[in-house]
Amino acid sequence: MGNIYPSTHPLVAHKLTRLRDRDTEPKKFRELVREMAALLAYEATADLLTAARPVETPLASTSGAALAEKIGLVPILRAGLGMVEGIWELMPQAEVWHIGLYRDEQTLKPVEYYNKLPVEPTVSVCLILDPMLATGGSACATVDVLERWGVKKIKFVGIIGAPEGIARLQKEHPDVPIHLAAIDDHLNERGYIVPGLGDAGDRQFGTG
Ligand code: PRP
Ligand code: URA
Repeated sequence: MGNIYPSTHPLVAHKLTRLRDRDTEPKKFRELVREMAALLAYEATADLLTAARPVETPLASTSGAALAEKIGLVPILRAGLGMVEGIWELMPQAEVWHIGLYRDEQTLKPVEYYNKLPVEPTVSVCLILDPMLATGGSACATVDVLERWGVKKIKFVGIIGAPEGIARLQKEHPDVPIHLAAIDDHLNERGYIVPGLGDAGDRQFGTG
């Protein structure tokens, strides 16, 4: 499979195990999502462009670097919301643009309910944030939205992916790198990732 980057970091593996645990309560679950998002985004942004920037230290002048790309964080509501804060702390200059999608329980197709993107793109690279890549419908719909907006560089940052969703995103958008903590076994008959972690939105927000 090309363009897919499962993390091999021991911290990610450790935190993922706590996240999967059915006994992990929402407060801890949110903390783990926030921390894992930062670790995954650190890996996903290793190729960001920088421009040379000189800097004066207390001792001397030296060469330095400044980020040269305008970054947009694009959480898919609701579950992607919990991934924003940890990443935003690393890159406080990023813009956050929310996309509201829910998955119809019968058809498993994404239904869009919130999108306030302005007409012209304001960022050059977007990180789509959603813990779960199941059928891939929500991720593909979001990439479609961002491509129509005019963003040229798009990455997907998630926590768990199913082979079905990864294959779909790669087929429809081969240029979008997929960064995940883990690739799981399969989807069940209700479109849930197995072994997975259950419903990522419900577990963060204490609903369901
Ligand atoms: C979940 C998840 C993804 C989507 C993944 O959201 O956060 O957005 O399902 O499924 P897919 O790959 O098959 O599209 P959900 O629809 O449950 O909405 P919520 O985050 O508001 O609970
Ligand atoms: N959405 C979730 O929150 N969990 C899954 O396993 C699949 C979709």
